[in-house]
Amino acid sequence: MSLTATEAPPGRGLVPGSYALGMLMREMRNRTLDTSNFKPLPEDLGEPTLDEGYTEIRQQAWLNSLRLADHADYARWTLEQLDEVEQHRDRLRNWVTAAALSKRKNVRPKSLNGIAFGNVGSGKSTAIIAAGGYAAANGLLPRYLKHTHYLQWLRPNGAPKGYTEQQIRRVFAECDLLVLDELCGEMDNANDWVRKESGDLIDARVASGRPTLCATNLNDERIGEIMGSRFLSRLGGGASLFEMVGEDRRRPVQWGRKPEEQEPTWG
Ligand SMILES: Nc1ncnc2c1ncn2[C@@H]1O[C@H](COP(=O)(O)OP(=O)(O)OP(=O)(O)O)[C@@H](O)[C@H]1O
Ligand SMILES: [Mg+2]
Repeated sequence: MSLTATEAPPGRGLVPGSYALGMLMREMRNRTLDTSNFKPLPEDLGEPTLDEGYTEIRQQAWLNSLRLADHADYARWTLEQLDEVEQHRDRLRNWVTAAALSKRKNVRPKSLNGIAFGNVGSGKSTAIIAAGGYAAANGLLPRYLKHTHYLQWLRPNGAPKGYTEQQIRRVFAECDLLVLDELCGEMDNANDWVRKESGDLIDARVASGRPTLCATNLNDERIGEIMGSRFLSRLGGGASLFEMVGEDRRRPVQWGRKPEEQEPTWG
């Protein structure tokens, strides 16, 4: 059965067992997990079932998405390691918890999307990836994605090995939580195709009540200029904001400047 992003089943938490099982098997195959020895739990075969008991699969899917984006080294970060104030540790935890609870209750989260913004190197990726790891451990199937990768993967022959273009669209439109990093990164402007593909992704997620947590160096005005007001409205409607505060944590060294231009606080 083919299922497009806009045809998500009604009532994601309460789906017929056989449907849930089919989705699970397909998910495992998509992630190149070996399904030959998979034995469904009794609740997979029975009446309406909740997506519980699959923490391992969720974590594998999450890690695979980080690997696909060459960001596996960030997987070690947990919410506890984030700065309480500068990286909004507790607010991020609450936001993910609310999303997990909404999924369990099959209701739409009050604040559907989250936007982490701040300077280069302020710790945005670290924070949203820690939040994704927390989501995987708490009942959500999260996936990590860089905006430019998504567009690259949808180009002819651009999908990573083992994926079709349609699978890429579906996988990121239908995961429980999309952790979308570097939104509009390295984009001065966007052509119609970029706007359409990015807009369709967010549209599908908003329409089906699936949250997206994104990170960007850009402010809302700039995102609106690049992607258009439709995209901005969908993404930003009722979103929670997480401003990452502070200088570049990578503390880049300086060179070739006159002594009076050196910044006294660094190095
Ligand atoms: N709470 C923290 N404690 C210590 N180091 C941290 C913390 N958060 C992030 N870092 C480190 O700071 C550096 C920059 O973090 P990160 O890559 O998350 O920043 P960013 O805002 O995503 O940067 P960019 O704008 O370039 O994408 C990384 O080396 C990361 O390991
Ligand atoms: Mg980053």
